[in-house]
Amino acid sequence: MIDRYAPINPKCTHLLHGGDYNPDQWPAEVWAEDMRLMKLAHCNTMSVGIFAWSRLEPSEGQFDLCWLDQIMDMLAENDGYAVLATPSGARPPWMAAKYPEVLRVRPDRGRNLFGRRHNHCLTSPVYREKTRLINTKLAERYRDHPALLVWHLSNEYSGECHCDLCRGAFRAWLRRKYGSLEALNGAWWTAFWSHTYSDWDQIDPPSPIGETSVHGLNLDWKRFTTDQTVDFMLNEVAPLREFTPDVPVTTNMMGTFPGLNYWKLAPHLDVISWDSYPTWHRDDDVRLAADVAFVHDLNRSLKGGKPFMLMESVPSATNWMPSAKLKRPGMHALSSLQAVAHGSDTVQYFQWRKSRGSAEKFHGAVVDHVGHERTRVFQDVADVGRKLEKLDAVVGTTVRPDVAILYDWENAWAVNDAQGPRRGDKGYLDDCKQHYRAFWRRGIPVDIIDMEQELSSYKLVVAPMLYMLRPGVAERIDAYVQAGGTFVATYWTGIVDENDLCTLGGFPGPLRPVLGIWAEEIDALYEGDTNGVLPNPTNALGLSGEYEARELCDLIHAESAQVLATYKADFYAGRPALTVNAFGEGNAYCIASRNEDRFLHDFYGGLSETLGLRRSLDAELPEGISAQLRSDGEHETIFLMNFRTSRACVDLGDAAFTDLLTGSPVNGEAQLEGYGVMVLAR
Ligand code: GLA
Ligand code: ZN
Repeated sequence: MIDRYAPINPKCTHLLHGGDYNPDQWPAEVWAEDMRLMKLAHCNTMSVGIFAWSRLEPSEGQFDLCWLDQIMDMLAENDGYAVLATPSGARPPWMAAKYPEVLRVRPDRGRNLFGRRHNHCLTSPVYREKTRLINTKLAERYRDHPALLVWHLSNEYSGECHCDLCRGAFRAWLRRKYGSLEALNGAWWTAFWSHTYSDWDQIDPPSPIGETSVHGLNLDWKRFTTDQTVDFMLNEVAPLREFTPDVPVTTNMMGTFPGLNYWKLAPHLDVISWDSYPTWHRDDDVRLAADVAFVHDLNRSLKGGKPFMLMESVPSATNWMPSAKLKRPGMHALSSLQAVAHGSDTVQYFQWRKSRGSAEKFHGAVVDHVGHERTRVFQDVADVGRKLEKLDAVVGTTVRPDVAILYDWENAWAVNDAQGPRRGDKGYLDDCKQHYRAFWRRGIPVDIIDMEQELSSYKLVVAPMLYMLRPGVAERIDAYVQAGGTFVATYWTGIVDENDLCTLGGFPGPLRPVLGIWAEEIDALYEGDTNGVLPNPTNALGLSGEYEARELCDLIHAESAQVLATYKADFYAGRPALTVNAFGEGNAYCIASRNEDRFLHDFYGGLSETLGLRRSLDAELPEGISAQLRSDGEHETIFLMNFRTSRACVDLGDAAFTDLLTGSPVNGEAQLEGYGVMVLAR
């Protein structure tokens, strides 16, 4: 069965290649040159108008779209397309001067002055009216324009506002959610430190000069901020849907940015996009490559496997990292194709042309201040463009992994808010990435999902530190395992409910039956302290020897579970460190301590054999080589990527492939140069 998505917009059946383009910063003479260079760079798409409001509406109600008409026409004449932005990410000074309510209020209740960007109230009726009006002008004007390909909503939605309007909206949101103050006081455990509210107006958002200690409030404020952002976004979207129902809408996200729960934005978007800025060549590129892959997979999973857009990446170096280290030769193509390997149908940049002034004038771009194409970076970009032109076959293809790792925003909020068992960052995201690496190293594709997603299509679901369980989640995990699924949990699971109230009657709360354990206490080790995990010699996963445990050790009792490994030392030596519980047709594992990478590598190695987990490529992958599959159910394309600087070789056995990038046959031993990539089709 063919399992292929339509192109992002059927107008263009190629992978998209291009960048954030700010013609509004440049005189018209430069535009024609941009078009010439765009073709030389093998770019077909420009993201236009992201911060162009003061050029689009120079004074209140005076709209000037003539310059944009010209740009749109020029793009179309040059076989290019526009990812056209709505300009709400930054506003003109006249608006802030006349309507101060559009500016954001900080948690300390001071209102910001005009300045920078992303500095707007999420609730202000004036700002919503102004964004709706300008979006209507854009949508009306370009509804039938051949260059219009995708709508780019605002830019990197983020932040919160504490103005009277936003606080009022928060209280209304709470009333809708809880119905009564009694219910709210109960959910927030407000009897603690005499916090019982007797009037809705007494409730304020968390603030460093006010409340920070009511965890239920903290959680609800974050949920509200996400909902209010969605509400703001829907107001922006309405005119676009009205005038251009067939033009897909996206907004550029920021990976695992903690400020917004992206799962709540995703259903309102037609295509997911994100901005990726890894710090290549700083520490360990192999490790970083796996971390980036995790986020690409998250973005693909946000719409159930639908290809996403790499909306921003840098062709050379950013200007905001501690050091603006240049991408070494090969890395630009490698990191761009890595995004495609994981499901992106685009490679786009910030930015097309370096601005001449202001804060981003030294940020990497396709066209540098020198102004011509004879630069290393421009040639690297053109090379990527030529490669992408050879990959039409991957447009709309995806991957259907056997494995899902559960990373949940609300869980992250709650985990990091908890005081105990460690201070500061509890390592939840790092844990998820650590488990992910064990699959990445083996070329086993993975989806990254939150706790609301359907589990039944996976053979294995891994849920590190599932501290919070929202209603219905434990029941769905039970049903999944009952029906034959394999579930892996860790320490600090099932501790609180959706209000951040602790489970009573024994952790892991509602997951106690499926895991077959009771977690009585958790030991947090000091930095540098370790314990050991000793596998039981008869364990079916083939674990042997000794593994190091650090930081967190759950002291669990096996109730119905079988013990596969025990702690080596301390007063809990001999007690369970790894368990499995047979439950219905399936099995549920608990890894009780935070262990070294080698443990997870071996543990998932054993599980992948037992479960027959699908790999992207049937081959042993040397350290630092990643294999990633895209398929339409019948035709497979395998991206083979070397994140090391030295040459590597992969034994392909008898399989015969063609490298789509070179057109050459590849079989037997595939030789990959340092930072080399092959795109293999059978
Ligand atoms: C973000 C923004 C861009 C630009 C880049 C610079 O991703 O969306 O406008 O500022 O950062 O890296
Ligand atoms: Zn506000």
